[in-house]
Amino acid sequence: MPRTAATPIAVAKESMVTPGSIQSATNTAKELTTSRERRPGFCLMCGIFTTRKVHKMKTTSALSVVALGVLLFFSSCQQSETVPTATSVEPEKIFGDTSVRVELFNDPHSYSTTESVVSRLYWEADVDFEKQIIRATARWALGGESIGDSIVFDTKDLKIKQVNVSGLPAKWHLGKSDELLGTPLVVMLEEGDKEVVINYETTEKAEALQWYPAELTQGKRMPFLFTQSQAILARTWVPCQDRPGVRFTYEAKVKVPKGMLALMSASNPTQKSDDGVYEFSMPQPIPSYLLALGAGDLAFIELGERSGVYAEPEMVRNAAFEFSQTEDMISRAEYLYGPYYWGRYDMLVLPPSFPFGGMENPRLTFLTPTVIVGDMSLTSLIAHELAHSWSGNLVTNATWNDFWLNEGFTVYFEMRIMEAVYGPDFADMLEALSYDDLQRELAVMLEEDPEATILKQDLEGKNPDDAVTAIAYDKGFHFLKLCEQTVGRERWDAFLKAYFDTYKFQTMITESFLQELAGLLTQEEWNKIGVNEWVYGKGLPTNCPFPASNRFYIVDEAVKMLLGVSPEDPDAKSMVYLEQDITIRWTTHEWLRYIRGLEAGGATVGHYRLADANYGFTASPNPEIVAAWYTAILKTDFEGFDPQKYEEKVESFLMSVGRRKFIVPMYASMLEGDEKRQAWAKEIYAKARPSYHPLSQSTLDQLFAEHE
Ligand code: BES
Ligand code: ZN
Repeated sequence: MPRTAATPIAVAKESMVTPGSIQSATNTAKELTTSRERRPGFCLMCGIFTTRKVHKMKTTSALSVVALGVLLFFSSCQQSETVPTATSVEPEKIFGDTSVRVELFNDPHSYSTTESVVSRLYWEADVDFEKQIIRATARWALGGESIGDSIVFDTKDLKIKQVNVSGLPAKWHLGKSDELLGTPLVVMLEEGDKEVVINYETTEKAEALQWYPAELTQGKRMPFLFTQSQAILARTWVPCQDRPGVRFTYEAKVKVPKGMLALMSASNPTQKSDDGVYEFSMPQPIPSYLLALGAGDLAFIELGERSGVYAEPEMVRNAAFEFSQTEDMISRAEYLYGPYYWGRYDMLVLPPSFPFGGMENPRLTFLTPTVIVGDMSLTSLIAHELAHSWSGNLVTNATWNDFWLNEGFTVYFEMRIMEAVYGPDFADMLEALSYDDLQRELAVMLEEDPEATILKQDLEGKNPDDAVTAIAYDKGFHFLKLCEQTVGRERWDAFLKAYFDTYKFQTMITESFLQELAGLLTQEEWNKIGVNEWVYGKGLPTNCPFPASNRFYIVDEAVKMLLGVSPEDPDAKSMVYLEQDITIRWTTHEWLRYIRGLEAGGATVGHYRLADANYGFTASPNPEIVAAWYTAILKTDFEGFDPQKYEEKVESFLMSVGRRKFIVPMYASMLEGDEKRQAWAKEIYAKARPSYHPLSQSTLDQLFAEHE
């Protein structure tokens, strides 16, 4: 697939840099900030409020000043191109003396204002599996020095029953509702008020909650409940200031039916209680999108000193085997980028309807069961969610516009952990797959929505879920990889370690990160990378690192060999068969590369049949492999297959797995087919939809609507 050419505008800008222009750019930046409220601690240069600590890691070399000038120059240039810049981020307020630091940026996805903010939550909840609702009280302590006349919470589809302030019924009202953002809850305050108590119930519409019926669980004894708050769904189960810029600590007391275990993104029990009541504490401040709850028939196995796994009893042993390298990953991660700040790192295996691979809920990563394949080959997912304990949970994207800071850094860190634990050859495969994903998605996105290929997004009026693309993850990763290659690992690792330390428990905007980067890079390095083009330009710059993989070299040869034969040749099957002594060492990744190679090389149904006859993809127990396989096959005229067997398998997969990464491409392939195939897709979706998570439902509803 051809690489995208560098955007001409970005190239022209780089060649325009002169010392004079840097000076005038600095002035422009100053002018742009004069109309703002100024207080001690406000940083004129980066346009955000900071604490004393913020500039600690900066070097003051002449070069870094020049580099910063370059950044400011670009930022001011971009004003006219409507690219968000450092100065377009409105800082609003910072509160002093609380253990919770608050940095509020204009967040287009929250109604909460900067007038008053929360700092601590005490949540008491009764989980009613029969009615499928949670009845709860959220007791919010207010934080900071200045508390205004009112406080605004985000809610969505909640039934608010009563609101008290400082022990007395409060004046409150619900504002106008919005389909995406929900409904603001405005509570009036008086001087000296310290606490708001909201008594409420969730409703059947709560998008963060999935109530999973007992029949569909492994043990079929008890139902299962799990939440998914990221990005803006915490408000559907807890009234909160639902923006990553507000952090709070929390405690909770949760009642579930007897015989169930309840877990949160907090300190957790390892055994069931007699009465179904559990208490939790999260002493480190977190943003609302990391609030999480899971409950079901769960057992626990300790993996190491500070890690363990929860899963249904039927699955917990396999899970413990699959994730047995977790403790090693934690140590390697700490060695790379500094201490793990969250105490324990446990994991909860969810039902197969979980729409994601994993979710980095602090102290308790949520995981899809589809990575439990028996050979530990898919544990890069653990490395990824663990890495979020630094990038994301410790240093958090300030708004969803900066989502690449969470995910791009995390993919980079994930690769480093995988390299440390499994060796460079393994990490090379992951990087090559990331590069492939990026190219595949870019090709479509550049046609359909080129703006979406920019790292720094402007998501006002859009669902932040739309930004969950290969751009934030894989373009972000390749940019950071290029930075690493340019400065060398030693400097890069020291930089990242200091970055996580300096900004721990704080938020980060793209521009502040670039300012730090300007402190690391020489001007020559800055220009060589083309930082600005990477962050604010569309597509993929031509200097994107190209990951080569030795292990994939062999796979690619095998693909060529298969595509080179005529499937009608009676000897074809044995001609292309790869001996077991080669494939025995192949992990999931080699097989993915093989399948995608066939697809990209224009394999015919005959070729696919040969491959299936040799390696049995259709019947593979590995969901990652079958999803890639079905996605490829479903685009072809697969009449040559044993349709009975094949159709049944596709259907049963779609009926039982709800992971978006698998099912969306499968349905999309089906919808590309003829009328019969499309009708089949609709028929399966109608049956499967009720068991999918609301997030998967909404993505698929959209996909099907596009094919109406
Ligand atoms: N935090 C994300 C999942 C997420 C992102 C949920 C945005 C809602 C909104 C998680 O860390 C993630 O990236 N999961 C990936 C893992 C993969 C890249 C290894 C997934 O689920 O596919
Ligand atoms: Zn992630």
